[in-house]
Amino acid sequence: MTIPDMTVDIGGLKLQNPVMTASGTFGYAREFEHYIDLNRLGGIIVKGLSLEPSKGNLPPRIVETDCGMLNAIGLENVGIDAFIQDKLPFLKTLCPPTIANIYGKTVEEYAMLAERMEPFDAVKGLEVNISCPNVKEGGVAFGSDPKLARDVVKAVREKTTKHLMVKLSPNVTDIALMARVAADAGADALSLINTITGMAVDLSTRRPKLANVTGGLSGPAIKPVALRMVWQAVQAVKIPIVGVGGIMNATDALEFMMVGATAIQVGTANFVNPGSTMAIIDGMQAWLQKEGLNDVKQLIGTLVTN
Ligand SMILES: Cc1cc2nc3c(=O)[nH]c(=O)nc-3n(C[C@H](O)[C@H](O)[C@H](O)COP(=O)(O)O)c2cc1C
Repeated sequence: MTIPDMTVDIGGLKLQNPVMTASGTFGYAREFEHYIDLNRLGGIIVKGLSLEPSKGNLPPRIVETDCGMLNAIGLENVGIDAFIQDKLPFLKTLCPPTIANIYGKTVEEYAMLAERMEPFDAVKGLEVNISCPNVKEGGVAFGSDPKLARDVVKAVREKTTKHLMVKLSPNVTDIALMARVAADAGADALSLINTITGMAVDLSTRRPKLANVTGGLSGPAIKPVALRMVWQAVQAVKIPIVGVGGIMNATDALEFMMVGATAIQVGTANFVNPGSTMAIIDGMQAWLQKEGLNDVKQLIGTLVTN
């Protein structure tokens, strides 16, 4: 039986298969080297990086929920300098492209992060997380205000020649509008969705379960929302869409591609089973073979709706 072609191109960045790791659920990759063959991944997206190191929020900052989890990590990370010095040398030895997820508190911070990353060839792309509050605009999330989203994407585009993926927030009324804004501002691809804001309550203590009160919901609970938003984004723009949200197995991944995603990211599943990405790659390949498809690209956008 012939092995299906699993390669995809997400707007100028070629991947050996469509399976990437979602930011914040895979550390800086080395954490997983004893569990999986990192070289089999389609792409590696590292934990969100800021200009300065950040300790994040106070605990408790993770809560399990029905069919998922809430997190309020608060974007704890080593900071861009330590990433370049301590994490990049290992990532450089791997075949899959490293994509640096970045976030700032102002438009200028995003631009500085992109500029700082530019000389490092080992970073093949940037994923811009716009689900963060803008301190200058009084905490309005970049990802929920079309004008702020455009400003961020334009500012990063001006500073980078690398592949530019913009990660959209689901906490908006009109995802198609945000997709168009990011595409028009110069994104090469879009990834969606980030977590959905939620909260959990402890009845006995009368307190929120997270110290931050609210957090981001992820896992199987959000898959239907993610599928719907990917579907809407695919209709709205011409650039490739990368689907994220509740992908736990190969079936989930294939569904996202059928809806129109060119590639996918695996997040919460890494916490349940660190080998999830490998099982997903194998499962996708086996399904394509069973269906007699010799190329994963033949599946993209083949959903029948009439
Ligand atoms: C613990 C945790 C940390 C995360 N950190 C980041 C981050 O730093 N940057 C980012 O863009 N997304 C972050 N995310 C969001 C994920 O990358 C992903 O978009 C989301 O969890 C939905 O996918 P999933 O249901 O497969 O987990 C984080 C998610 C979790 C659960």
